Amino acid sequence: MKFIWDTIFVNGSKFVETVGSVKKWNKKKGFLFLLTKNLFVLLFVLKMTSALKFIIIHASELVCVTGNGERYLKGSQMDKLKIIKDGGMAVGEDGKIKDVGKSEYIIKKYEKEKKEIIDLKMKKAIIPGLVDSHTHSIFAGDRINEFEMKIKGATYMEIHKKGGGIGYTVECIRKEKEEILLKELIKYLNRMLKQGTILTEIKSGYGLNLLNEIKMLKIIEKANEIHNIEIIGYLKNIYFIDVFHEKGIFEFKETLQILQCGKKYGFYINFHGDELHYNSSAELASIINATAVSHLEFISNYGISLLSKYLIAAILLPTTAHFLRIHYPPARLLISNDVILALGSDFNPNSFCLSMPFVMNLSCVSMKLTFNEALAASTINSAYALRQSHLFGSLEIHKYASFIIIDHHDWRHIIYQLVDPPIHSVFQKGICVWTKFHPTLLPDHDDHLHRSQLFAEPPLPPSKL
Ligand SMILES: *[C@@H]1O[C@H](CO)[C@@H](O)[C@H](O)[C@H]1NC(C)=O
Ligand SMILES: *[C@@H]1O[C@H](CO)[C@@H](O)[C@H](O)[C@H]1NC(C)=O
Ligand SMILES: *[C@@H]1O[C@H](CO)[C@@H](O)[C@H](O)[C@H]1NC(C)=O
Repeated sequence: MKFIWDTIFVNGSKFVETVGSVKKWNKKKGFLFLLTKNLFVLLFVLKMTSALKFIIIHASELVCVTGNGERYLKGSQMDKLKIIKDGGMAVGEDGKIKDVGKSEYIIKKYEKEKKEIIDLKMKKAIIPGLVDSHTHSIFAGDRINEFEMKIKGATYMEIHKKGGGIGYTVECIRKEKEEILLKELIKYLNRMLKQGTILTEIKSGYGLNLLNEIKMLKIIEKANEIHNIEIIGYLKNIYFIDVFHEKGIFEFKETLQILQCGKKYGFYINFHGDELHYNSSAELASIINATAVSHLEFISNYGISLLSKYLIAAILLPTTAHFLRIHYPPARLLISNDVILALGSDFNPNSFCLSMPFVMNLSCVSMKLTFNEALAASTINSAYALRQSHLFGSLEIHKYASFIIIDHHDWRHIIYQLVDPPIHSVFQKGICVWTKFHPTLLPDHDDHLHRSQLFAEPPLPPSKL
């Protein structure tokens, strides 16, 4: 069911395109077309008025993030989030938000309709589900020994040259069976969901040959079927191309060549740049019209102005600087120059962190972001970097009801309470997919639970929350 809307939309725009030619060529065809078109309009309207499923009311703070359909926030906007005190939402059977506002308004408007009511009694806050726009979540083996070497002072490149680092992960992933890799990935995704992530990007790239890259993409695709986290990057849905643009890895010219080739095949561009050395990555991003660049610890001032001018998202990954003990990307400078700033966990065996609340805390403590900026960067802007901000990243009408209930009346506690953030429950597309009272809702790969089965479950009754 969940694809009906999209299908109609695609077909709808196809028919609209035909209108011009129908008028010119064929009356019969035109009549038929109008008939079909109206049928689509009817279906469209029916879908728009999808039945009410539940209302959620008396959130002490309903943090919508945006309120006017913004696809991203930049500059001072990032610190001015839309927050409704004593807020509520109405959610449809289609998993989308039908209405947002003060509780009083929501209660009154939907008074007569059949529905479940979730009452947060002014004790809990709501924020949008978190979006992690940069991960390498599928890997085999760990790099715990390297972590110890790094603590003792070895650099990333020294380890890389000794055959460690990515080279080691590549070796492990090539050897590992598909089933095992999938099982591991599902476990990681479960842990991400518990930390509030509802949309993530997962890169292939540790295969480094066609066979193993396809193996990785297939695993990601399977995970997307099984798991409730929405994943960008699987086989039928890869639309980003990435390159590790770095001195001694892929240099400027090679990177440009690879990205240009990807572009020719219709991929959006989102690559690693200016991480360990300045190498004109933002400049390259503007030449090639990238959607986003990740890392940017060593971005130039000119590069910053280019990202700002071309609305290229800067995906900052503060865990890298934390684990490698290098300097942090210039987050404040990026914000004051109106760059669209997003955050990601960079989850991978080199920086083993899959928690966006931790990333937000780190970005506040070490990159001087405000609470609001950290949340904007982990929701709407992160969704923008994945080209999904029309569906995810804020709580507005017609977007997915994908949100977190926070076990505190002040939403900022999700950033403040480090390591074990007070997450009460996580909703994906209008369904409660995890709550601390029902950990069994998480799919275990062994159960062969299909995502559609999970979606078919009704939300937990309020008494259970
Ligand atoms: C990339 O970095 C190397 C080493 O620092 C430098 O020699 C080269 O000029 C840089 N290339 C660009 C395009 O910035
Ligand atoms: C740049 O890429 C975006 C998609 O990321 C596209 O919408 C836009 O039209 C492109 N602009 C140019 C000048 O190619
Ligand atoms: C990050 O977590 C620590 C530990 O709980 C806390 O003291 C600090 O205030 C947090 N930072 C922010 C910005 O919430």
